Amino acid sequence: MSNPDLPAMSCIERLVALFGSQAEVARRLSLDRAVVNNWVKSGYVPARWAMEIERVSDGRISAVEILDEAGAKRPVKVKSRPDDFGALYSGSQSMNPYAPAKRISSFHPPQRTLMGPGPTEIHPRVLTTMSQPAIGYLDPVFVEMMEELKSLLRYAFQTKNALTFPVSGPGSVGMEYCFVNLVRPGDKVVVMKNGVFGGRMVENVERCGGVPVVIDHEWGEPCDPQKLEDTLKKNRDVRVVAFVHAETSTGALSDAKTLVEIAHKHDALTIVDAVTSLGGCPVLVDEWGIDAIYSASQKCLSCTPGLSPVSFTERVVDYVKARKDKIHSWFMDMNLLLGYWGATTRTYHHTAPTNSLLGLHEALLLLREEGLENAWARHQRHHLALKAGLEAMGLKFLVKEQYQIPQMNAVFVPEGVDEAKVRRTLLEEFSLEIGAGLGPLAGKIWRFGIMGYSCRPDNVMLCLSALGSVLSDMGLPIHVGEAEAAAHDAYAKMHQSAAQQKKKAMAAAA
Ligand SMILES: Cc1ncc(COP(=O)(O)O)c(C=O)c1O
Repeated sequence: MSNPDLPAMSCIERLVALFGSQAEVARRLSLDRAVVNNWVKSGYVPARWAMEIERVSDGRISAVEILDEAGAKRPVKVKSRPDDFGALYSGSQSMNPYAPAKRISSFHPPQRTLMGPGPTEIHPRVLTTMSQPAIGYLDPVFVEMMEELKSLLRYAFQTKNALTFPVSGPGSVGMEYCFVNLVRPGDKVVVMKNGVFGGRMVENVERCGGVPVVIDHEWGEPCDPQKLEDTLKKNRDVRVVAFVHAETSTGALSDAKTLVEIAHKHDALTIVDAVTSLGGCPVLVDEWGIDAIYSASQKCLSCTPGLSPVSFTERVVDYVKARKDKIHSWFMDMNLLLGYWGATTRTYHHTAPTNSLLGLHEALLLLREEGLENAWARHQRHHLALKAGLEAMGLKFLVKEQYQIPQMNAVFVPEGVDEAKVRRTLLEEFSLEIGAGLGPLAGKIWRFGIMGYSCRPDNVMLCLSALGSVLSDMGLPIHVGEAEAAAHDAYAKMHQSAAQQKKKAMAAAA
């Protein structure tokens, strides 16, 4: 029985008691011990850790307890200045015609499960890192971090390319960066278009003054190597071939290795979009010989949106350096940005988004700790379980099995179902976000992303159970529980086969 005379234990004290030591708490949360020690000293756990702590403690310390305690110890300050300070502005402030009409408080987003096409949930370690104090972008400590960040990105891209770094801006900026630097006015560029993002590549070629040669595909099909071969035979003067490795709008994965091989046979450079693929399935830049590649921070890398990792071969760097014409975007001119991100110098180009870069460093470190191959296997494992569940509900995939992207699952909306209502109900009742179809697939498909930190068994099971219950409420012949059982069965089979393989490997090594 608790003694009312003794002060109640704080959540952090209970957590340490539960796991036996601060070091063990740090290990379970994949955190530095100093962070946990800091929580012990301050007597509370910051609110953003609430869900993670509920998870690691198997619910013995609930998220609500953490939030209540954090709220009491460190209440959110709604007013921006003390009342008497307001007297300085008396009259003028309240009458300011530009002041917002409604009273605005600090913004606190709800806790969502993100299973759309991105962004994904962000690992708590990344969020914690991003809330570190500001530091100058030329501070020697920051510059050292940049070098580590570049090496971690080389690992993620599986490349030794010296010029591998994050462009400041979302994936669309990475895309534009590649086109602006590689495409000169008048250059012929083959774009393999099999969804929304291939369409954006065509736009980019046109805006650079290039001449696009578009190879169209049905949405849901991967890019066809034979079509590329035929097009390049007919167009001997093509300079660049561009395609999307993992087309997020449909969930189709293309054979990047073969497409790059064909492009090179015809002496063309390649631009590859790896926004959805990087970190979720193999992207082997050196082995496949990709010349220019871009990705984004908010998908399988589990970071906040706003950074676009890119990588270029020496050949591309030399090609861009040798361009006689002025690259028509100042911000994206590779020659200028080399001064900040290049091998030797660190001079001002633009104010780098320092805290976002710290976040990406941590996200990539998490990937390194997990191991790239393990991360790919994780996406595949949860894809198979999700797929088993969705199919048990009678839902059909848009993309043929052999071309499905594990982290981006597109299924047809059943006949007669109001697809927007389903998404709305999932959000309102289960705080679960899934994606809608785009372009010609709008209203016809749902897209279930299991990317990065969102790619977890609890998310897969929540999604199946929430979707099953919403569809059955709408009158569909869904047997609630069947999808979850199918997913469990898929997990069980995978665990069994992994255990057998491990046993065999141990026997062989003995
Ligand atoms: C394949 C692909 N390319 C490019 C982009 C554009 O990235 P961003 O939205 O970060 O600008 C996306 C975004 O979803 C994408 O999925």
